[in-house]
Amino acid sequence: MSYADAFARSIADPQGFWNEAARAVTWSRAPGRVLDRDDAPFYRWFPDGELNTCFNALDRHVEAGRGERLALIYDSPVTGTVRRFTYAELLAEVARFAGVLRDLGVAEGDRVVIYMPMVPEAVVAMLACARLGAVHSVVFGGFAPKELAVRIDDARPKVVVSASCGIEPSRVVPYKPMLDAALDLAAHRLERCVILQREQAVAELVPGRDVDWAAAMTSAATGPAGCVPVKATDPLYILYTSGTTGLPKGVVRDNGGHAVALLWSMHNVYGALPDDVFWAASDVGWVVGHSYIVYGPLLLGAATVLYEGKPVGTPDAGAFWRVIAEHGVNTLFTAPTAFRAIKREDPAATLLGKYDVSSLRTLFLAGERLDPDTYHWASEKLGVPVIDHWWQTETGWPVAANLRGLEPMPIKPGSPTVPVPGYDVRVLDGDGRECAPGQEGAICLRLPLPPGALPTLWQDDGRYVGSYLSAFPGHYLTGDGGYRDEDGYLFVMGRTDDVINVAGHRLSTGSMEAVLAAHPAVAECAVIGVADALKGQVPRGFVVLKSGVEADPDVVCAELVRAVRDEVGAVASLKRVDVVPALPKTRSGKILRKTMRGMAEGADEPVPSTIEDATVLDVLRPVIAPPREP
Ligand code: COA
Ligand code: AMP
Repeated sequence: MSYADAFARSIADPQGFWNEAARAVTWSRAPGRVLDRDDAPFYRWFPDGELNTCFNALDRHVEAGRGERLALIYDSPVTGTVRRFTYAELLAEVARFAGVLRDLGVAEGDRVVIYMPMVPEAVVAMLACARLGAVHSVVFGGFAPKELAVRIDDARPKVVVSASCGIEPSRVVPYKPMLDAALDLAAHRLERCVILQREQAVAELVPGRDVDWAAAMTSAATGPAGCVPVKATDPLYILYTSGTTGLPKGVVRDNGGHAVALLWSMHNVYGALPDDVFWAASDVGWVVGHSYIVYGPLLLGAATVLYEGKPVGTPDAGAFWRVIAEHGVNTLFTAPTAFRAIKREDPAATLLGKYDVSSLRTLFLAGERLDPDTYHWASEKLGVPVIDHWWQTETGWPVAANLRGLEPMPIKPGSPTVPVPGYDVRVLDGDGRECAPGQEGAICLRLPLPPGALPTLWQDDGRYVGSYLSAFPGHYLTGDGGYRDEDGYLFVMGRTDDVINVAGHRLSTGSMEAVLAAHPAVAECAVIGVADALKGQVPRGFVVLKSGVEADPDVVCAELVRAVRDEVGAVASLKRVDVVPALPKTRSGKILRKTMRGMAEGADEPVPSTIEDATVLDVLRPVIAPPREP
């Protein structure tokens, strides 16, 4: 089927289209109905179907005689370890850990928070939850205790699974003290923690509450657990993502639609095959990790690479090439920032010459805008198609892509190409009318969203409707702005809200502002994302001090940088806060963040007509503007 036919059918007849795709999944009860529209705008895919996602990711490959195939390759330059698991081995681990969780009282529908570094046990824990019909919520290891506590309070887990430490190139990061601090901060009281001890920093366990991973796995009392069939519409996981406020949004993923959509995307978007080695160089704490380190490749029966390292510094800018060569990687998926880091250290890609990367067929990039420089560099050095594709935590899989399996299309640098079948992408102006080609507007998706995209937010239907469905009735608001060209190619220009993207990590300026505002010397504050050559964007903070405050502004700024690191996490990368006499505001009191961003990036910002006091811009300019090149 051509792209045009597939796309047209997916929009005109979504039920027929996804019913066919659903046949690739093994159901314990095949769905009789495909799409339930009765509670619109809450749509449910495969409402009467039943399945187990872990069965589809592991058991069925073993039952099909593929148990000796490689499932998971753990490559950890920070510990000097490589471990390989076949499907049969991974299944045995997962079934056993599911037994551990079951014995700790975890049952269908219970939540389990997973706060772990990039170790195989993180994947095992996720799949073990899926096996039991429990709901996992993975929290990225770079988040600080307070962020973890907020997520624990929202998800109310029965058990937390964590590790004694994570390993960053420059330091060992003890996770357990952060977990203990989060549990102190959280109002929710959970029953048990399972802790993976790593030799780089052994953690103290709290008697009666904490269970040692290794001891539990080898205990004679623990037997493996089988797969619990769940409804297709039951939640598989909750993944918190940054919204415009400090409170993260709990994106819910269902079981049935997710399995169908991911499996479809592996073939049609990524052009992946069951014997492939697929490497998503991300982290299990992000959606890319959920969809394309864990579930997508395993649903397909491919081998997935779990990489505990960085593109540079572990040990050098040849790390990615080494992994491709050593494991025969066919598809690499990462964020453009990783390639910018490699290019900065090894602009001529001399280290590439040391490795045979001929197994690589395609490089996929997402998570932030792919700048043309990085696109051209990667294409030229690797000599394979470099595919920009656009999606977000909420959608769970690509919204716009060059569909390598379905019908490869000519690449236009700067564009993630065309809408993926299932996604009725519309670019709307402020009045909800469709923009003409080339005209920029809000990128929206006409409802219903396809399988795999979020059905709602965790226990907050109201926020789901308020955040995504209210701006343009009948449409989901992506939060990104952009346009389509005459050929229907989509161009994504950036967020239209207060979400920023730092090294491919999605962060809320609102959560950083909440930390700045809590400082006793601060009267007002704003955090904006400004362009950065390596990370795409980095946050910068601006504060107005309370009148009469005598503290040294430099000391206050250093305290604020520290506070954001401690309360949001190192990953926020807020390195600079400036004291300013005032913030530019509209007459109704709204801070003019867009104007500030333009000034910080050195643009000639027009004075907005809504500004309350234009002289504020003059006093701000010397502080906010980048130094001019001599
Ligand atoms: N646990 C604890 N701390 C973590 C962490 C984790 N899982 N991940 C990152 N951090 C810390 C880092 O150590 C760093 O701390 P520092 O300020 O003390 O140096 C801080 O958070 C920022 O980390 P990072 O954003 O990774 O920046 P970096 O300067 O260390 O590295 C890159 C820059 C570009 C090499 C790195 O961001 C990268 O590899 N990006 C790839 C993109 C990616 O994986 N995106 C995910 C979505 S696809
Ligand atoms: P996340 O939810 O963390 O995956 O972040 C999603 C956001 O990242 C999107 O809303 C975009 O702002 C940005 N993004 C992801 N992929 C791309 C891309 N290919 N081009 C431009 N922006 C992107």
